[in-house]
Amino acid sequence: MKYLVTGAAGFIGSHLCHKLTTEGNEVIAIDNFSDYYDVNLKKLRVEKLLTPLQVKVLGVDISDKNAINELIASSKPEVVINLAAQAGVRLPTDQIHKYVNSNLVGFSNVLQSTVSNNIPYFLYASSSSVYGDQAAIPYTENEQKLHPNSFYGATKLANELLTPTLIKSSSTIARGLRFFTVYGPWGRPDMAYFRMIANVVSGSEFNFFGDGSVERDFTYIDDAVNSVLELTKELEKRKPGYSDVVNLGGGRPLSMNYLLENINKISKAEVKFNRQSSNSNDAKKTMSDSSYIQSLIGSKPETKLEDGINKTYQWIIQTDIADQLTNWVRSVQ
Ligand SMILES: NC(=O)c1ccc[n+]([C@@H]2O[C@H](COP(=O)([O-])OP(=O)(O)OC[C@H]3O[C@@H](n4cnc5c(N)ncnc54)[C@H](O)[C@@H]3O)[C@@H](O)[C@H]2O)c1
Repeated sequence: MKYLVTGAAGFIGSHLCHKLTTEGNEVIAIDNFSDYYDVNLKKLRVEKLLTPLQVKVLGVDISDKNAINELIASSKPEVVINLAAQAGVRLPTDQIHKYVNSNLVGFSNVLQSTVSNNIPYFLYASSSSVYGDQAAIPYTENEQKLHPNSFYGATKLANELLTPTLIKSSSTIARGLRFFTVYGPWGRPDMAYFRMIANVVSGSEFNFFGDGSVERDFTYIDDAVNSVLELTKELEKRKPGYSDVVNLGGGRPLSMNYLLENINKISKAEVKFNRQSSNSNDAKKTMSDSSYIQSLIGSKPETKLEDGINKTYQWIIQTDIADQLTNWVRSVQ
């Protein structure tokens, strides 16, 4: 099959393009190489994961309506997967235009071009951040009280509201992927697990928000990618105009304190941190009810945090990675 993947130099996008290509698919990969965190990390992902497979990442910005439309119209992929976004919940108020440009304007451009070019399948990254603290635990897809804690989460919820309005009278089938805290090798240096490991390996700064009781339903990257592939295949059973959203999480929330202890144990060292007050953009607890994903594909993310963190640690301690950690951690905006 022919895929177009946006955000291909990003954490999830680079792994997804790698997997799709090794499975024999043709992949058109695009990314605007935004500077939210060090562009060198994005370039290195492309060099190590994609260049050996002859996948090039084209420098296209999804907020450029004409560029995205020309690309989709001329390449006619069967599947468009939109991962490009301004990620992270913590940008200050004077930076929210970055969420607007990529997550609203860019998203709408990709959605509209996909529909108007009669692309059969459209999948897009949503987030567990759509739920917010008023949603019942565990989070289910049919939750009605969706009040995101952050502007970022609200843009993802907007994506979910916009999609069916165009899809319902189109020949496209769509699916929103509510990712739950995805982690692993080649991950994002703004995320707590990455910064904790970087701290023990390179002594880079780690700000620990709150008392560590915040819980996250962590999803290992390979599980996330495998689930995306299976959820794409499952759409072949659906009729044009269909759309839904799926929790992509395993349903095992663990606290930040537990994560920290685990990293101390694996590294045989101690994470040293600056305690900061808790951030109101962070949900207190995320937990996926994974019955829908299981009913669709017969599985859910299963990798234990202990195993996934160990694999991430083994990746990080490689010399060419460890040498860059301080720069990557400092680069986060
Ligand atoms: N990693 C997680 O835990 C997680 C959780 C929930 C949702 N998500 C979502 O999954 C998707 C992928 O996340 P990630 O962790 O790989 O983040 P990432 O920041 O590593 O990847 C996103 C990529 O999109 C690119 N991008 C941003 N704006 C763009 C634009 N206007 N045009 C083209 N490219 C653009 C960036 O350069 C980056 O490489 C995002 O939509 C994110 O919001 C991620």
